[in-house]
Amino acid sequence: MERKIKKALLPAAGLGTRFLPATKASPKEMLPIVDKPMIQYAVEEAINCGIEDFIIITGKHKRAIEDHFDSAYELEEKLKSTGKEKLLREINKLSHINFAYIRQRVALGLGHAILCAKPFVKDEAFAVILSDDVIDPDYSLLKEMIRVYEEVECPIVALEEVPTSEVSRYGVVDGVMEGEIFRISNLVEKPKAEEAPSNLAIIGRYILTPDIFRILDRQKAGAGGEIQLTDALKSLLRKRTIYGYRITGKRYDAGDKVGFLKATLDLALKNSEVSGPFKAYIREIAQRIGIDGLHGCEKTRG
Ligand code: UTP
Repeated sequence: MERKIKKALLPAAGLGTRFLPATKASPKEMLPIVDKPMIQYAVEEAINCGIEDFIIITGKHKRAIEDHFDSAYELEEKLKSTGKEKLLREINKLSHINFAYIRQRVALGLGHAILCAKPFVKDEAFAVILSDDVIDPDYSLLKEMIRVYEEVECPIVALEEVPTSEVSRYGVVDGVMEGEIFRISNLVEKPKAEEAPSNLAIIGRYILTPDIFRILDRQKAGAGGEIQLTDALKSLLRKRTIYGYRITGKRYDAGDKVGFLKATLDLALKNSEVSGPFKAYIREIAQRIGIDGLHGCEKTRG
């Protein structure tokens, strides 16, 4: 099997119910963080790892994703004729990338979304990126996972320690550290806090091998009535080793309102165009909240 990871799957067919009403008719993946839709952060992250081909799993109301990565003739002409070269370069910077789109007719779960790509992923390992898990663009998580994959040639999932109160939102693993990687011995999808084997949650970056498709083909619906990738990984674990890679940088659950706001705040502070005035505004807010807060404290103490 080819050891180099050249393809990335980006499942983007979910209903995005946590972001309603914004996601009623528009894709969650197109919500902008500062000035880029979250799916573009994911694509750029993969390009930085040498990934050349993208398969995006879409669904109803997701056409805007295809338009976003397509050329925009009228807009380009306008930018050219008005001398807006920088913006023109910006909107064209992904024009050399190959995108393929597959429609998941019904949102039957992440595992099912991945299965939809089976005919287009041949006998090769591939990356799966959930674009609503935004990774700090200065942290090369996927690159590190690909490096590990090239050494061990086993499926790898990204892991993050989460508070016990949040384990029921994730796939959670059990296992042991082996050097820099975590050898997984069990996986549970969305466990109750008291039943979770650990606080290590699977987050939206995976390197998968094509044998997952054979399992997904037969996978029954699990938690929430969905075909879960975690359940398929649990079956795969009976046949081969699966590793976890513990993340050390920042990840935002941007599919959740608070996570999205945190990502917006941090990425705005890193953006040279807006960081100056934005910092000034944060100082203003801090002062406003701080002064009110202090008054409260002083009164209580007094
Ligand atoms: P989420 O668990 O975030 O689900 O899916 P969701 O539907 O997008 O959002 P909420 O929870 O209702 O707010 C994780 C990833 O899997 C994709 C989503 O698009 C997201 O990238 N997904 C999920 C699919 O592509 N198809 C599905 O059937 C389910």
